[in-house]
Amino acid sequence: MAQHEAADLTQAVLDRLADCQDPRFKQVMSALIRHAHAFVREVELTEAEWMTAIGFLTETGKTCDDKRQEFILLSDTLGISMLVVALNQLKAARAFQAQGGGASTPTEATVQGPFYWEGAPELELGSDIGQSMPGEPAYYHGRVTDTEGQPIANCCLDVWSGDGEGVYDMQMGEDAGMRLRARFHTDAQGRYRFWSIKPSYYPVPDDGPVGAMLRRMGRHPNRPGHIHMKVYAPGHQPVTTHLFVADSPYLDSDAVFGVRNSLIVPFAAHPPGEAPDGRHMNIPYHSATYDFRLVRAA
Ligand code: BEZ
Ligand code: FE
Repeated sequence: MAQHEAADLTQAVLDRLADCQDPRFKQVMSALIRHAHAFVREVELTEAEWMTAIGFLTETGKTCDDKRQEFILLSDTLGISMLVVALNQLKAARAFQAQGGGASTPTEATVQGPFYWEGAPELELGSDIGQSMPGEPAYYHGRVTDTEGQPIANCCLDVWSGDGEGVYDMQMGEDAGMRLRARFHTDAQGRYRFWSIKPSYYPVPDDGPVGAMLRRMGRHPNRPGHIHMKVYAPGHQPVTTHLFVADSPYLDSDAVFGVRNSLIVPFAAHPPGEAPDGRHMNIPYHSATYDFRLVRAA
């Protein structure tokens, strides 16, 4: 049997892909093998350390269930999720520019995170999804256009956030059901408006192996306050993104590296009185405005 010295082991493993029929799979696996072997060589990994890593990955898998995805959290906190999002959006932007581009740049994407729940209720524009939830009221409004500034009517904004204390419905216990999430559709002028709360910063779930990893790295688990949305309409490329609260802590050190400057939005503070949609507010409230821009599908 052929024996491989450490020096040529990497090439020996790569050679075993000679009969792989799927060129993309072969490319990805070959790169994975090369980089993983280079990593082991660079840090001179010990057997005990490799067993610790395997124990960590095993624990990560055991922490996953239908409500919790610790592997995605690991990818998020290592910046891999955001790198994948950013690289793919860059690729799409280059293709868009090669076709002549638009007058303005499309809304930037960021990580989806683990708290998206398909099938949120479809509500009328102007509805309040934050009523009776902890947090200060906030009025969200703006338009959805294409990159030429043409309004996109009947565009869906599927929105979700934690409450004013940073807790998502999925973390509120079995019976909480859907809270602070809904689907809205823009009007004929591409406008949207709804009420919710001003979201607070919060820690990503840190009571599992990823939390232990963060502590050992000397890192905090917090994300700055944000509201998530998927924005999509027929004939346009969808975008999964957030709006970040401009005066939130942790904008400079998001635990999952999701902040993009173009998504940071001031939340204006208002005294009690008549809100822009005519609603009478007897307590102070905030307002945030943001215009989304989608790329027309080729
Ligand atoms: C979130 O923003 O909901 C989130 C994103 C990544 C990891 C954990 C939470
Ligand atoms: Fe979030």
